[in-house]
Amino acid sequence: MSILVTGGAGFIGSALCRRLIREGHAPLTVVDKLTYAASPKTLEKEQASGALELVEADICDTDAMDTVFKRTQPTLVFNLAAETHVDRSIDGPEAFLKTNTLGVLRLLEVMRSHRDTLAPDARDTLRLIHISTDEVFGALGSEGVFTEQSPYDPSSPYAASKAASDHLVRAWTRTYGLNTVITNCSNNYGPYQFPEKLIPLMILKALAGERLPVYGDGQQVRDWLHVDDHADALIKAATLGEPGATYAIGGRAERTNLQVVHGICAALDAARPASSSYSGLIQHVTDRPGHDRRYAIAPDYIEQSLGWRAQKPFETGLAETVDWYLDNEAWWRPILEQRYAGQRLGAAV
Ligand code: NAD
Ligand code: TYD
Repeated sequence: MSILVTGGAGFIGSALCRRLIREGHAPLTVVDKLTYAASPKTLEKEQASGALELVEADICDTDAMDTVFKRTQPTLVFNLAAETHVDRSIDGPEAFLKTNTLGVLRLLEVMRSHRDTLAPDARDTLRLIHISTDEVFGALGSEGVFTEQSPYDPSSPYAASKAASDHLVRAWTRTYGLNTVITNCSNNYGPYQFPEKLIPLMILKALAGERLPVYGDGQQVRDWLHVDDHADALIKAATLGEPGATYAIGGRAERTNLQVVHGICAALDAARPASSSYSGLIQHVTDRPGHDRRYAIAPDYIEQSLGWRAQKPFETGLAETVDWYLDNEAWWRPILEQRYAGQRLGAAV
């Protein structure tokens, strides 16, 4: 089995690669455009051991992707290449439409023409696992959960670009018979997450003694999943999932943003005590435009059909994540200095 991972130098992609290698699926090929969000350093050990080859390319570049497909002859393709930050999508939607939507169209077309060059039995085994988000379903009120049957109702440019990509993948499955699986996952957290996202941003701001900007009343709910649990779900969906299936993936760990930020402050109070609690730094700021109130996933289908279940309790994972950022300043310091210093994004309407 030859595996291609697009976006493998990002947060979830790199965790997936490490897990695939640990489970004996090497060698892997990673295609990544190496945007501001990429951390190719996280894959250096795997590259040095020969377990992984990193190809710098854009999924929108049909020729480059065609060359990779011809040379590596993948059987499984995990697509994680994406622009992923909602706030940046508010400031500049076009990059999101380019990579997340046009990029997926191009990837589907490269796969389709590659599939058509294969012997009949290999045609059916070539499979795309398209990694998507629960944000395509829009906002929930205080009741209800997202499932594989939830209607699409995206709020942000990011969510709309991912929703469009899911529709393309389904259309290429029905029209051209591509073997695909779509996964819609809730918010991930864990090591190597770029510090524009809530959890790492709050950890690093607290350590710097800066205000912790909570959007609006902080009562918005996200359903948190540790990135290693997500990687496990993706491998199960790829290897055991039904062709054409969709899996909703979540950690059954709904928390308000304020609960998460207080949890981070409590973990830091214990691990790196300051003169007063870090929670004194919390500051409510203007809300995000189009802010979805609540996300929650019912992962019953993947639990029952593939035997997957999130293993890491949120409070344990959050404390471990705080410790990881405390121990890995060499990873995040250059990011803060050279790529993103923590300023507010996406506030403009
Ligand atoms: P990330 O921003 O950390 O990484 C994205 C990676 O994609 C980066 O390495 C970047 O360089 C690469 N990339 C961007 N544009 C590219 C292009 N045109 N061609 C090739 N590579 C490109 O993102 P992440 O959090 O690891 O998310 C990965 C996937 O999982 C995305 O598709 C995202 O929509 C989905 N997802 C993320 C979450 C979450 O909470 N982070 C939850 C559900 C689903
Ligand atoms: P984020 O990590 O951007 O993920 P997503 O928007 O994809 O869910 O944000 C998670 C939640 O945290 C979301 O409700 C917005 C909120 N948030 C803040 O309150 N302050 C911040 O500085 C950031 C980045 C996010």
